[in-house]
Amino acid sequence: MGSLTNKRVLLGVTGGIAAYKSADLVRRLQDAGAEVRVVMTPAAREFITPLTMQALSGNPVHTSLLDTDAEAAMGHIELARWADVVVVAPASADFIAKLAAGEGDNLLLAVCLATPAQVAIAPAMNQGMWGKQSTEDNLHTLQRRGMAVFGPSEGSQACGDVGLGRMLEPLDIVAALVPLFARGVLSGRKVVITAGPTREAIDPVRYISNHSSGKMGYALAEAAAEAGADTWLVSGPTGLPCPDRVNLVSVTTAQEMLDTTLGLMNGCDLFVGAAAVADYRPKKQWSQKIKKHSDAMTLELEKNPDIIAAVSALPSRPITIGFAAETEHLIENATKKRIAKRLDGVIANDVSRSDIGFNSDDNQVTLVLDSGIEEMPVLSKNQLARVLIDRLAQLL
Ligand code: PMT
Repeated sequence: MGSLTNKRVLLGVTGGIAAYKSADLVRRLQDAGAEVRVVMTPAAREFITPLTMQALSGNPVHTSLLDTDAEAAMGHIELARWADVVVVAPASADFIAKLAAGEGDNLLLAVCLATPAQVAIAPAMNQGMWGKQSTEDNLHTLQRRGMAVFGPSEGSQACGDVGLGRMLEPLDIVAALVPLFARGVLSGRKVVITAGPTREAIDPVRYISNHSSGKMGYALAEAAAEAGADTWLVSGPTGLPCPDRVNLVSVTTAQEMLDTTLGLMNGCDLFVGAAAVADYRPKKQWSQKIKKHSDAMTLELEKNPDIIAAVSALPSRPITIGFAAETEHLIENATKKRIAKRLDGVIANDVSRSDIGFNSDDNQVTLVLDSGIEEMPVLSKNQLARVLIDRLAQLL
């Protein structure tokens, strides 16, 4: 998993000969797992074409504040909100001066003004310009405002001079970005979550399933992604939208959920089984719709594979957390499940109540760990998911 997985990097390119390195920087950012959008100043287009940057980034390149089509597609405010970080590389002396003055008369300046995200600049200029007091004052102004300054490095320059002012190499810029994100409690981790019901076919028309909506599992996936994890959601049929920055794999049956889950275990740090997996499936699936003959019908069922037990049995298993859907003796039954399935923890919820559990927007759970019992209040599933992710991250 790359050091910038799930991160959205808006790369600003200004007018300087170092702009040729920005093309390589796009590739290095993508290699680190980031999604990249490029904004170029008018001067930058004298050094590298938008077509090159568009081909490399795979996203439309934004160049003009007054481009009605571009504004209609993704305007400067949306761009500013899209970004997790704005990196200006190269950052020319002129751009740095305009940024320090709070100007916004081109798209990149406007985005830097509007974005709530961290802004980082990689200066690139002639060593004489770098040494000027005005440049130093402008940089100090930007640093006082919390902007990060990457480099510059020392060496030979396009103009033949040798000295400070070369833009950092692309890999060094990527390396300088990573610490800006090392805040998420699950940064650098891989998390796999199962969610929703499974459907076990009886015939082409009928199936066995349950009332799981998937809300709990989807909320956990969203919270894990927000915490910086490389998040994989293995979901039965729910109809819910895939949360932002989550990798969704849709399945139907328990067998498919098992196969998909085991296929995702490589490098997995945390597995949470929130899915309501059908414990049984019809021993026989009819290829044609069963006709209604007699008043009664008998279905012979057979056990489905136990997904979470299979995960917890892996030789190099992740931290494995199950849910327990109980209607009575909540803690006793949850504890039995934790031990029987060799889990690191079980999140127990009473599914006999209509206000929590299946399909509700709220839930109340008790976390059953080896270290003890932790009861949580009724919370929305979204809020509860964040509390649970923070707590489970501590187990890592
Ligand atoms: O989806 P929602 O509508 O938001 O509802 C949330 C929920 C009630 C479904 C959820 O909070 C929950 O309790 N999920 C677990 C439901 C369930 O199947 O519980 P269980 O006690 O039957 O299973 C125990 C654990 O084993 C669970 O982690 C389950 O995912 C796992 N399991 C069960 C059977 C099986 N064949 N394979 C499994 O992995």
